[in-house]
This record gives sequence, C-alpha cells and structure tokens, in this order.
Amino acid sequence: MNDLTIAMPKGRIFEEAYQVLLEAGFNLPEEVEMSRKLMIEIPEEKIRFILSKPMDVPVYVEHGVADIGIAGKDVLLEQQREVHELLDLKISNCYIASAGLPDTEMNEIAPRIATKYPNIAMKYYKGIGEQVEIIELNGSIELAPMIGLADRIVDIVSTGRTLKENGLVEYEFITAVSSRLIANPVSYRMKGERIMDLVRRLKKCVNEQKSNRV
Ligand code: PRP
Repeated sequence: MNDLTIAMPKGRIFEEAYQVLLEAGFNLPEEVEMSRKLMIEIPEEKIRFILSKPMDVPVYVEHGVADIGIAGKDVLLEQQREVHELLDLKISNCYIASAGLPDTEMNEIAPRIATKYPNIAMKYYKGIGEQVEIIELNGSIELAPMIGLADRIVDIVSTGRTLKENGLVEYEFITAVSSRLIANPVSYRMKGERIMDLVRRLKKCVNEQKSNRV
C-alpha cells in the first residue's frame, strides 16, 4: 500500500472532513489533538495529514508534496491550479455573494469591490458587463462598505450572521461552495489504486449522508 499525504485545511473544515474520513471507515483516532501540530502521522493507515491555511491546500497538492487535499470550491475557482478535482464532499456548504449597505446603488464610475477573491469577483462583474475596481483584502471584508472603502464586497456567506451583525445586505448570489477532494495529477497516476479506493469509500459515505438528510 502506497503512503498517502493529505493536505487539510486547519479549523472548521478540518473537523468536518476528518469526520467524513472516519465515517468512510478509515482507522483514525476518534479525536485528534489539534494543538499546534502541523503534521499528523497515522502509521496504521499509512496516511500523513499536513495542516495548512485553506488557501494553501491547492499549493501543496499542485507541487506534489501532498498527493491529495481537501479544498473549498472558492479556493479552487480563485486559484485555477493544476490539480484534479475528484469528488464533491458536500461539506462546509456555503456560497459566494455580493453584499453592501442596504438601499445603495453602486458608484457609476468604476465601483469599488472589496474581496479576498479578486479573480472570482473580476470574472463575475465582467460577466454582467460592469467595469469595477477590485480592492483585495485578506479578511474582515465586511468592514469595507461600513468605512467607505468599497461599494460592495464579494465574500463567503455561511450563516449570514457576519453580514447581519455589520448591517450589510446581500445583493447577488455568485456561486455555491463546498469542499472538494483534489489530487496531484502525478500522484493520481502513480498511486491511482490507493486514491481511487479512497474516492470510492468517500463517495459512498457522501451519498449515504445525502440520503440520510432527505
Ligand atoms: C468568513 C467570510 C465571512 C464569514 C461568513 O470569514 O469571509 O466573513 O466567514 O460566515 P457567516 O455567514 O456564517 O457569518 P472567516 O471566518 O473565514 O474570517 P475572515 O474575516 O478572516 O475571512
């Protein structure tokens, strides 16, 4: 059996993704002591997890230091990296939307859009024929309209709480987002059997979860 290195996003998504792996029957410790460890070895399964910022997962996978990874569709759309997208895990479901202060029009000349997704935002506004100026931020995007930095933001909405608590309203739905299993193209060829076994087990689990929800 080949060793498998899996890049995982730290935080919320890790816990959900780890749960799916447990449900798929992988022999993993029930609880992972997250502490500050960035690498977790599971010798029984010949699996090694590397934990990174969500935006960095596709970087590790593209460079082949991780064979596979779990990445949000938002990150994949934004970065367009050379990785194979193998499976929609249907976890961490949310969406990307534009938002702003209530009852406001966008500035007619080059409205400003604050976002940590410059490519997604640019593509969206280009698609609807709006010429915009993108202001790239790294977080706390909701501040931008409140302090007059931007007309609109383009950001993830999950529960909608952040928008609400900051007095913003949603304007346009842009795209749905969930976590995806991705693979390095070379690993996919070289460790095909191992990776496909994992995909099959996860797929079964994802489908069962779906039918449980219906
Ligand atoms: C994300 C996103 C929103 C928030 C949406 O931020 O950028 O701010 O979650 O979630 P909600 O709809 O459930 O309120 P994140 O927590 O990743 O922090 P960030 O500000 O660093 O981007």
